[in-house]
Amino acid sequence: MFDDVAPKYDVVNDVLSMGQTRRWRKVVVEAMDVRAGQRVLDLAAGTGTSSEPYADAGINVVACDFSLGMLKVGKRRRPDIDFIAGDATNLPFADNTFDASTISFGLRNVNEPKKALAEMLRVTKPGGKLVIAEFSQPVVPLWRTMYTEYLMRALPAIATKVSSNPDAYVYLAESIRAWPDQDHLAAWLQDSGWQDVTYRNLSGGIVAVHRAHKPLTGNGSAEAIAAHTGPVAKLRRNLPRTAR
Ligand SMILES: C[S@@+](CC[C@H](N)C(=O)[O-])C[C@H]1O[C@@H](n2cnc3c(N)ncnc32)[C@H](O)[C@@H]1O
Repeated sequence: MFDDVAPKYDVVNDVLSMGQTRRWRKVVVEAMDVRAGQRVLDLAAGTGTSSEPYADAGINVVACDFSLGMLKVGKRRRPDIDFIAGDATNLPFADNTFDASTISFGLRNVNEPKKALAEMLRVTKPGGKLVIAEFSQPVVPLWRTMYTEYLMRALPAIATKVSSNPDAYVYLAESIRAWPDQDHLAAWLQDSGWQDVTYRNLSGGIVAVHRAHKPLTGNGSAEAIAAHTGPVAKLRRNLPRTAR
């Protein structure tokens, strides 16, 4: 699906978000707070739009994605960026490789998002930062109703006019509605072994930017993988949602 939408991906994003993506991306870069010379993983980087600000600032950014179509469009536009094909749930990097990791509008698309959180923990250096930008739940009820109407009615109609694959945008709307809210994602991060988890709502909660750190000690990744695949995780999955 992403291979298919790659050629017009960035233009369609700007249209459907009414230009808001630029502001959201700025907040992510500020939250990352990385310096020239540091190594950053931009996971599910797609065409590399989310990676560009780091490359522009002299930061050694690796744009990783599993859609070759997206990577090709990105490489053509920014040959200076390191584009790497890789699956978020089985990253092709050694432990403790990156000073900071980020994923913008990608975690929701990964089949096993908790596995991706554990993998990002593994490849980030102890003490390193994680910043996630993802669609979330508007916090004010009236705003939530208006936004849901936009998602389910207007967005697919606009996508029919501007995109070659309108079905992809029906998927977009449905995946946003099915995605956990701000607190739920924060709990996932904690369960995966990330520390100091906080988030900030943007555009009234349409988007949330979560931040966290990798603990300075302990083998976070092994613990996290065990936590969501082992017997304790199975037990937790069987508990009522409120008790988890
Ligand atoms: C909505 S795009 C976001 C691209 C970019 N981060 C941005 O902000 O524009 C989501 C990306 O997630 C990628 N993706 C989904 N599942 C993935 C996985 N398991 N491993 C790597 N990339 C994945 C898709 O190929 C797609 O390029």
